[in-house]
Amino acid sequence: MNEFDDIYTNTRFDRERHQHMDALALKSPKRRFMLSASVSMVGLTAMGLPAAALSRERKTILSVFNNVPLSKLDTITVPKGYSWHVVNAWGDAIQGAQGPVFKHDASNTAADQALQSGMHHDGMSLFPYPKGSQSSTNALLAINHEYTDDGLLHSDGMANWSAEKVRKSQAAHGVSVQLVRKTADGWKTQPSIEARRVTAFTPIEISGPARGHVLMKTAADADGVRVLGTLNNCANGETPWGTYLTCEENFNGYFVTTTPTAEEKRYGINDKGFGYRWHEHDARFNSALHPNEANRFGWVVEIDPYNADAVPKKRTALGRFKHEGAMVTQSSDGKIVVYMGDDERNEYIYKFVTKNIHDPKQPARSVDILDEGTLYVAKFSKDGKGEWLPLVHGRNGLTAENGFASQADICIKTRQAADRVGATMMDRPEWLAVHPTSKQVYVTLTNNSRRGTGTESANKTDGTTTAATTNPRTDDANPRKDNAMGHIIRWSEFANNPTATLFDWDIFVLGGDRNLADNNKHNSNKGDVFGAPDGLWFDPAGNLWVQTDISTSTLGKGDYVNMATNMMLVADTETGELKRFLTGPLGCEITGAAMTPDRKTMFINVQHPGESPSERADPANPKAISSFPDGDKGQRPRSATVAITRDDGKVILS
Ligand code: FEO
Ligand code: CA
Ligand code: CA
Ligand code: CA
Repeated sequence: MNEFDDIYTNTRFDRERHQHMDALALKSPKRRFMLSASVSMVGLTAMGLPAAALSRERKTILSVFNNVPLSKLDTITVPKGYSWHVVNAWGDAIQGAQGPVFKHDASNTAADQALQSGMHHDGMSLFPYPKGSQSSTNALLAINHEYTDDGLLHSDGMANWSAEKVRKSQAAHGVSVQLVRKTADGWKTQPSIEARRVTAFTPIEISGPARGHVLMKTAADADGVRVLGTLNNCANGETPWGTYLTCEENFNGYFVTTTPTAEEKRYGINDKGFGYRWHEHDARFNSALHPNEANRFGWVVEIDPYNADAVPKKRTALGRFKHEGAMVTQSSDGKIVVYMGDDERNEYIYKFVTKNIHDPKQPARSVDILDEGTLYVAKFSKDGKGEWLPLVHGRNGLTAENGFASQADICIKTRQAADRVGATMMDRPEWLAVHPTSKQVYVTLTNNSRRGTGTESANKTDGTTTAATTNPRTDDANPRKDNAMGHIIRWSEFANNPTATLFDWDIFVLGGDRNLADNNKHNSNKGDVFGAPDGLWFDPAGNLWVQTDISTSTLGKGDYVNMATNMMLVADTETGELKRFLTGPLGCEITGAAMTPDRKTMFINVQHPGESPSERADPANPKAISSFPDGDKGQRPRSATVAITRDDGKVILS
């Protein structure tokens, strides 16, 4: 999703003008504790990889492949010596040959769609199969299906709008779990008892502090404990106990009310929504009739991919906001730490630290470990110092007098709690990635074209209001006015302990294109040009992959005049150099990243090939921009999971 991501509901800058940004500054440690390369290497050796192999890999990481050029082609391009193939696409049955066949004219029913891969593949995790194995030839892929393009989803687009069309759109949302097997003919989806769809109408348990809270109760669920569905599932995470975390991002766009409350406005709920039109046939998306239903979305949802009967759980302790992803790591004392971004202009970066420890020898004991712990929000101060501010009832003004009567209130109104404690407004936090051994954390800040640009006269989220709002000034962590090309920052927690409350941060790289004249925006990065970083992933060997989501409306134009398609690059974390590994077909973003344990197959997702600048395809001419991946055989472009291998059969980067 592009244009709809680029909205603004945080007017805190107007209200407070950052008055307490400095007042809250705490003492920071005198010495910087960024990791040196040598420390990183010690850590990698500790994880069991031979030091000689690592040093060889470290030196040659970017030299093992030839970069691919910028592309205007409607296909995937990978370096010489590598190959790719499609594993599944929207509409392919999750039971392989045993499920309903995709009809290229989009005439499959809602019931068919509920047995097929959803639309708009996004975050994805690989779970070796069977459970407990380290198989690199059989795996369950858990794949997010973020949203629908209803111009493509139905034969006649959004004409003749009906309950069946709403049901099909809901069935195309959510998550798919499917078994994939490496065959002589590439990776293929196979029938399995584990395969399932979790859609926008699958029963899901509400877990953690907000379970049963009055704001979670609805006419259909008087106890506030069970909700139908998950939606706008963007990025992801996986836990050491073998579960999948799927993250609800732009949930607000499905709800509509002509009279939004202040709480609804803070989450971007308004009289228009994003045009899904579900409320016309499913009343729970009419927020005027069912005001609490939207409180039941905007969460991280945990799914057991190995058990199709296990009811997914919304983990409310992790807060409610436009969750991009949920990157999990573990501290040396055994606690689980989850890093999370709220992807909207001027929103925040969060982390959650569990109360209890995860014991790898007793994974079953961690089944509800995400229900208890401490939620923090990040404050990035000057001079590379940072601090995690606890969002805990009774602290930092999070009291009943200020609208937070309990921890449940903080979990449901997380944005308001973060506003109050003075977190740092960021340039749209997307994915986070944690180095597998050093624990250094990286985050993509995809862009914020209005950073530091003064007053704007219309708040797009409210739609109906023209009240002027003032955009935040630049600051050390968001240093560019009109940050059209985004950046990546990173930090090291104090003593490299993920549970620490102090950290040292720096800017890893600024997006840009040095071929263009404006030095402020375009001349800062080393290596290949890129912008709008979104997907970010450390592979198990510590190689950093960066995926871009340049908006379709700006691809090939303006700051992106030289970038006509989105791409994936590999970053050298020591030099800041990026090298382009892949370019995608027309109108798509590249997202999702996973590898087999042997690191010989990498999976990525191609999302929304053929997207038009107005977001929805023209149902009369759905192939106007792209015919990926079916070419002449198909009638409409499809999001897809793609496997990448090396022709010599070796590890992807070695
Ligand atoms: Fe769904 Fe912020 O990307
Ligand atoms: Ca996109
Ligand atoms: Ca994203
Ligand atoms: Ca994005």
